[in-house]
Amino acid sequence: MKPVQFEKADRLPTEIVFKDPVHDHIHVRHQLILDLIDAKEFQRLRRIKQLGTSQYTFHGAEHSRFSHSLGVYELARKICDHFLRNYPEDWDDSERLVTLCAALLHDIGHGPFSHTFEKIFNTDHEDLTTQIILDEDTEVNQILRRVSPSFPNEVASVITGDYPNPQVVQLISSQIDADRMDYLQRDAYYTGVTYGKFDLSRILRVIRPYKDGIAFQYQGMHAVEDYIVRRYQMYMQVYFHPVSRGMEVTLDRMLTRAHDLYRENKLAPVIPMLEPFFKDDYTIYDYLDLDDSVILYAVLAWTKSEDRYLSELAQMFLHRQPLKSVEFNREKDAETVAHLRDLVDQLYFDQNYFTMTNRSSDISYDYKLKEKAPISLFYPDGEIIDLSEASPIVESLSDNLHGNDRLYVPRELLRRTPPAQQDLPIFQDIYAEFRKHIKNGKIL
Ligand code: NI
Repeated sequence: MKPVQFEKADRLPTEIVFKDPVHDHIHVRHQLILDLIDAKEFQRLRRIKQLGTSQYTFHGAEHSRFSHSLGVYELARKICDHFLRNYPEDWDDSERLVTLCAALLHDIGHGPFSHTFEKIFNTDHEDLTTQIILDEDTEVNQILRRVSPSFPNEVASVITGDYPNPQVVQLISSQIDADRMDYLQRDAYYTGVTYGKFDLSRILRVIRPYKDGIAFQYQGMHAVEDYIVRRYQMYMQVYFHPVSRGMEVTLDRMLTRAHDLYRENKLAPVIPMLEPFFKDDYTIYDYLDLDDSVILYAVLAWTKSEDRYLSELAQMFLHRQPLKSVEFNREKDAETVAHLRDLVDQLYFDQNYFTMTNRSSDISYDYKLKEKAPISLFYPDGEIIDLSEASPIVESLSDNLHGNDRLYVPRELLRRTPPAQQDLPIFQDIYAEFRKHIKNGKIL
């Protein structure tokens, strides 16, 4: 059965809507989509926060991967409708179902505090997304197979970028795709920062299909340009915030300490849901048991650990007293960084667990990027021009890395008020030595 026929047969008698603060309503017209939303692997995304540790800086940012995934689906659905209405010659609507399913499931393999978890336990959310879609025992796979035996493969190949139709791939994964458009709007809404908002409805008017993919009508250039600028600002102000990164670093050090203790058979308590990952012997079903509550329970349990380092790090995370940071320059500050880490050792903390360097980097727009398609403008004569050629603002943000390097240390060393009389003399000395190397939050 071809998808178009399947789609007709699969239509719900009446449309179902989910109320959403960003897109107002999420419209569901197919039983298949409704069943995917109800699948337990998808419901799990309710229990994973979209922005991980950013909620400790922007307290409103408690939205979940569930709401983001619904949002990406809704944007993809709106774009398909717009293509069908305005460009029926250039858009094959039998691609709709695979597009919507890929939009909905693109983050199904995300775990709790992904960034940190993946680094410590060597998991990969993109790999896991594919595995969850393809494994015949998941509910998601069983629902997708109702369309055809090869349909799970087709959906997975859109997400990995291997699907033959570039229009579908670019809708889900390019430098201006449904994923990025949803998370920028959603993250701006929930963090409360207004500069993340761009003119989404205008972009959804000027987006169009053409034979090699997706482009934007040249009249809409400024709306697209604005999206790039807002994206840059969100990275600088929200995603790379030094306190959120400090919480990430603190979690990273806590899990590393727990992992090291586990190897020596000294971890107590062992958290059953985490054990397969400590052993490096896990299945996707172990992975699907993970959510934010597993990590938060581990934090809580380890505050009572007899290991002094583990309990200290767990308390720092629990009470939001993360390691604090100074900015440094990778090329010229290596020696000072090593010296400052030694000072932490001399104080009373092991530098392996209580210091860490952290790099943030993002390229706002890259017209040479291989894995994510660039943004093309479509002119009346059919000519296609790269956005960075038409917009001097985008050009200035193109192709270079934005971000910085930070050294994280125990916060006592960076407190503003110098040690008081009653502080230990060793702390007074080391504090003074530490401060000598720092000015305005940067290593001198
Ligand atoms: Ni996403």
